[in-house]
Amino acid sequence: MNRIHQHPILKFERGREVKFTFDGREMTGYEGETIAAALTANGVRDFRESIKLQHPRGFFCAIGRCANCSMVVDGVPNTKVCVIPLKGNMKIERQHGRGAVRERS
Ligand code: FES
Repeated sequence: MNRIHQHPILKFERGREVKFTFDGREMTGYEGETIAAALTANGVRDFRESIKLQHPRGFFCAIGRCANCSMVVDGVPNTKVCVIPLKGNMKIERQHGRGAVRERS
C-alpha cells in the first residue's frame, strides 16, 4: 500500500476500513478519505483517458478544479474523485472519453 502512516507534524484520523471495487477489482480504503487517495494507496495511477488522444490521466490539482480525475462512480460519469469521500461498497470505474450521459427515467 502507498499510504503515509506516520508524519512528524500531521495526524491522520482514519474512518473504518471499507471495501470498494475499481474496474471490478476489490480494494480497501478508509471511509472519509477521498476516492483518489484510496485508489493511490492501492497503486492505481491512471484514472481516466484523455478525450482526444486516449492518453492516461492521473489526478493533478487534487482540489476539484481540473477534472483530470473524472471517473464513473456508482454509475455517475465525470465524478471528480479527488474531492469525493470514499464510502463502503462504492463501484468505481475508469472513465473513457467524455463518459456516457444517463437518460432520466
Ligand atoms: S485532480 Fe483536478 S479535479 Fe481532481
